[in-house]
Amino acid sequence: MFVDYATPGLSITRIRFNGYNLSLIVRHPLDVGTKVSIFGEINRTVSALFCIFVKSLNVNNQNMMISETIKYIGVDDTDLDLFESQYVIPNGVSYNSYLIVDEKVAIMDSVDSRKQEEWFVNLERELCGRTPDYLVVQHMEPDHAGSIAAVVEKYPQMKIVASAKAVQMLSNFFSKVDFSGRTISVKEGDTLSLGAHTLQFAMAPMVHWPEAMVTYDMLDKVIFSADAFGKFGALAHEEEWADEARRYYINICGKYGPSVQTLLKKLSNFDIACICPLHGPVLKKNLGYYISLYNTWSLYEPESEGVFIAYASIYGGTAAAAYKLQEMLEAKDEKCVVADLSRYDMSEAVANAFKYGKLVVAAASYDGGVFPVMHDFLHHLQIKGLRNRRVGIVENGSWAPVAGRVMRSMLEQMKQMEIAEPMVTIYSRMKDEDLPNIEALANAMAE
Ligand SMILES: Cc1cc2nc3c(=O)[nH]c(=O)nc-3n(C[C@H](O)[C@H](O)[C@H](O)COP(=O)(O)O)c2cc1C
Ligand SMILES: [Fe+2]
Ligand SMILES: [Fe+2]
Repeated sequence: MFVDYATPGLSITRIRFNGYNLSLIVRHPLDVGTKVSIFGEINRTVSALFCIFVKSLNVNNQNMMISETIKYIGVDDTDLDLFESQYVIPNGVSYNSYLIVDEKVAIMDSVDSRKQEEWFVNLERELCGRTPDYLVVQHMEPDHAGSIAAVVEKYPQMKIVASAKAVQMLSNFFSKVDFSGRTISVKEGDTLSLGAHTLQFAMAPMVHWPEAMVTYDMLDKVIFSADAFGKFGALAHEEEWADEARRYYINICGKYGPSVQTLLKKLSNFDIACICPLHGPVLKKNLGYYISLYNTWSLYEPESEGVFIAYASIYGGTAAAAYKLQEMLEAKDEKCVVADLSRYDMSEAVANAFKYGKLVVAAASYDGGVFPVMHDFLHHLQIKGLRNRRVGIVENGSWAPVAGRVMRSMLEQMKQMEIAEPMVTIYSRMKDEDLPNIEALANAMAE
């Protein structure tokens, strides 16, 4: 009997099974394929035996095991061009999914359909021949719910456990699947016993969709936190957490600070040893650090002192004024980060506006308005709910500068924005007579 088997993180590609003789053909871990092909009949016993062998090799990635009975079965996606069709993910992203193996077996969320096949490999490996009783759906967004139809079809006896809103959404996404009699709606505080594990559900509306919920495992003190505490970046790519978690949070959940605050208050009632988010690493240590950053971000408080100077310049005149302002601010010991919005990643710029306590927007006038990339930036800040910042404005124009008026009016629509005076107006190119005005703005920003 031959069994071909390849899965991420595993290096076995072939098992030869001749009577009692079991031999493994191993290939280089970096050469791991993502397809499973099983040739020939494989019975339950061999499958279980195979499972034991695979596990005994201890080649699973570090996140594979959350506890003795909670396993990581998620997948990395490193070939997606843009997450949600707008966010660059230079280091990929992970779609996390977990399996709780108890008297009953529960899958915690599925994955984006792009990686469904790999996910099934991970799922079946950890199932070790068992069948899942429940699929807990914490969030219906396709990056997590995309494989629901396939898994429901594969395990017809399995029930979907989700909030009432999520249950409603199921047929919007999967109109051809008959979910009748296959769903269990849960509400705040409801519990589900799996045997030794008891799951308790807490609703998390608008973190990041209205149907979202989180799940607390009372046995292992694990919180399955849905999108909360997630970050961009594949698990295979190890990096510091905060930058990509901030970019993820601000751009994806930024608008919903009050909802995140409500969730954080609920979480404070749980004794949490481990956070299992739907993206990024499982968090087991220093949980206070992550929770405190989430608290800062969701309160719209600056995380760091400093001035974020974002400019939008066609020919370089506005850029020169922005760099002059940076020089003056740095002379006053203000930390500055400068971004050319035409070339800087928009989601990073938005995250920086949230990160720093002060913001300067500098832009050329354009067709009776503001240069489009600045309009876009301010629109992003508006919809993500940025508030409570001191903001300086620099405008440029060759005949009728209007960029400043447009930027001011967009800023005035945001909450608690303090506009620093004076606004600086440049005509085409910065001249010596503009310097006192720029210096005055630097003084106002440094106050
Ligand atoms: C398509 C287009 C539209 C423009 N519209 C205006 C305008 O409405 N008012 C104005 O004063 N200048 C307008 N300008 C001129 C620029 O705002 C002006 O040259 C400015 O100095 C450019 O700054 P920069 O060197 O930072 O690119 C426009 C330029 C372009 C290319
Ligand atoms: Fe989401
Ligand atoms: Fe997500």
